[in-house]
Amino acid sequence: MALIDTYGRRINYLRLSVTDRCNMRCSYCMPAQGVAKLGHKEMLSYEELYRAAAACVAQGIEKIRVTGGEPLVRRGIVDFLGRLSSIPGLKELVVTTNGLLLDELAQPLRQAGVARLNISLDSLRAETFARITRGADLYRVLSGIAAAQEAGFGPLKINMVVMRGVNDQEILDFAALTLDHPFTVRFIEYMPTLQDESWGAQSMPGSEILARIAERYPLLPLVNSEMAGPARNYKIQGAAGAIGIITPVSGHFCESCNRIRITATGRVRGCLFSDQGMDLKPLLASDDPGPLHEALSRIVTQKPGRHHIAEEGAEQAVVNMSRIGG
Ligand code: GTP
Ligand code: 5AD
Ligand code: SF4
Repeated sequence: MALIDTYGRRINYLRLSVTDRCNMRCSYCMPAQGVAKLGHKEMLSYEELYRAAAACVAQGIEKIRVTGGEPLVRRGIVDFLGRLSSIPGLKELVVTTNGLLLDELAQPLRQAGVARLNISLDSLRAETFARITRGADLYRVLSGIAAAQEAGFGPLKINMVVMRGVNDQEILDFAALTLDHPFTVRFIEYMPTLQDESWGAQSMPGSEILARIAERYPLLPLVNSEMAGPARNYKIQGAAGAIGIITPVSGHFCESCNRIRITATGRVRGCLFSDQGMDLKPLLASDDPGPLHEALSRIVTQKPGRHHIAEEGAEQAVVNMSRIGG
């Protein structure tokens, strides 16, 4: 079975947000005043999340990325991931995390069947890191990254959201990380999800990020695999790891988008930036998977061709990243 949308894109990747809670409060993700937390009843239970995921896999989803908020703060997450990883037909279960809890959880996650981890890390300087995350401890994340390597996770992806005047002076430090470490460091354009005033001044196009790196290091382009996702990948000659550039703003990758999303409350969305969605919760109570399958097919059919963020005159949606999971 395959899910094909009206633009001929094969949808085989689900981003599943399991919680809106987070143990960091990154400036680009949450406004200073914070965001209203979901009540426990509004959030899908693990049973409901499992049913939703299994229905997606039955319809052609091959890869699930579990996101949050911070997915590892939800109690019982390791057991849940263990159940997810054994859904018949699922080829890859992966997680995006801020790394704070990996010291304790890296090994159990590996045992639960998680294949790979993407870890957000926006600064290598303790003070800047604390400023961006509003108080988190850089050294806990670095030790979490080491724990993930020790647990035997394959090449880790490190996500850095680049913000001019905040952490852009560290672009070369992050690039240099790949010289000795087998990481893929991905530089991500800051997306205007909060619709706040700082975005314009802080955003930096991927071309500028790449030019800064290329000025210092010779870069070889790498060929993307089908499951490689939105990054364009490069390698510094002779480096152990790789460099990725993710340009959702300046050069969207919508024409090759292969994903749908389910939020922590059970709304399925065809696009990160589209309000169009459907509430799966009422359908998850039933033992009959028919209506659930129909809803998923419908959301794929309605999936927009592309987003229009940061375009003049286009309607701009405020995207609650901590509920949708990026
Ligand atoms: P893999 O390629 O599977 O490793 O994952 P990924 O890069 O898609 O996922 P990750 O959670 O690491 O996200 C990296 C960045 O890409 C984050 O800033 C996400 O918000 C962004 N991103 C992921 N998917 C999409 C998408 O469909 N559209 C847009 N605009 N941004 C996305
Ligand atoms: N722009 C770009 N990336 C973002 N993320 C969260 N908010 C934004 C934003 N406004 C990233 C996080 C994490 C991933 C899931 O999404 O850094 O790596
Ligand atoms: Fe796909 Fe929407 Fe992401 Fe574009 S923004 S790549 S259409 S999910």
